[in-house]
Amino acid sequence: MIKLPLKNIFILTGAGISAESGIATFRGTGGLWNNYRIEDVATPAAFNKNPSLIWEFYFERIDKIRKSKPNDGHYAIKKLISLSKNIHLITQNVDDLHEKAGIKNVIHMHGDIMTAFCPKCKKKYSVTRIKRPLPMCKQCDSILRPNVVWFGEKPIYLEKIYNLLTKSSVFISIGTSGNVYPAAEFHLIAKSLGARTVFINLEDTGIQSDLFFLGKAGIILPQLFDKWISKGYIEFNK
Ligand code: APR
Repeated sequence: MIKLPLKNIFILTGAGISAESGIATFRGTGGLWNNYRIEDVATPAAFNKNPSLIWEFYFERIDKIRKSKPNDGHYAIKKLISLSKNIHLITQNVDDLHEKAGIKNVIHMHGDIMTAFCPKCKKKYSVTRIKRPLPMCKQCDSILRPNVVWFGEKPIYLEKIYNLLTKSSVFISIGTSGNVYPAAEFHLIAKSLGARTVFINLEDTGIQSDLFFLGKAGIILPQLFDKWISKGYIEFNK
C-alpha cells in the first residue's frame, strides 16, 4: 500500500465532465461528431471557406453553454482543488462550467468558447460583445474567429502543462475518451515520471491505470473525493 497526500495532483477533464450538465460530448452516443464532420466545422480551412457556417455552429453551442449549470462533478473538483494550490486543473473543454463552479486558473488547453479573437490583429473579445451572425473586428474589420483550438492547430499552454506534469505525483483523468493528442498521452508522461494514475469514465477506454472508476463523474467524484478528503490521502495498491 502507498498513501499519497492530497497535493501535486494533475487533473485532466474532457467532455464527459460536462455531459451531466447537458453539454454534448464529441464521440459516442449523442456525440457532436456523429452529426457534424470535423473537417466542416473544426478546422482553420473550414473557417476560411465558410466563416458564417462556423459561426452558426459555434453560436448554437455558446447559447447552450450559457444556459447550462455545473453539476456535482464540477463542484467535487472545486472542493478537491480548494485543498492545495498544488492541485491543477487542465481541461480540454471549451465551456466555462469549471469557472461557474468557482474554480479559478483553469488551464483551457483547447481554448475558450466564450471568447473570440481577430486572426489578423489578435484582439480578443468576449462573445457577449460580438455581433451576430458574422462578428467583425472593430480594430481592423477582419472576421473574428472562435477562440478554440481546431484540428491541425497546437493546443495552448503546453509548456506550462508539461512542467506541471513533471511535478505531479497523482494524475487524474475524468471523462475523456483519450482520442485526441497530446492530451491522450499526458498520463503516460506522468506515469513515466513516477506518478500514480486515476481514471474516471463512463465507459472503459482500455487505458491502464492504477485506479479506475466506471460510471458518471457527477456520481463518482463527490463520493470519491470526499473519501480522500476525510482520510487526507489517496491509497494505491503499489
Ligand atoms: N461521466 C464520466 N464520463 C463520461 C460521462 C459522464 N457523465 N459521459 C460521457 N463520458 C465519457 C465518454 O464515455 C467518453 O469516453 O466521456 C468521454 C468523452 O469523450 P469525447 O467525446 O471524445 O471527449 P474528449 O475526450 O473531451 O474529446 C477530446 O476532442 O474533438 C475534440 O476538441 C475536442 O476537446 C475535445 C477533444
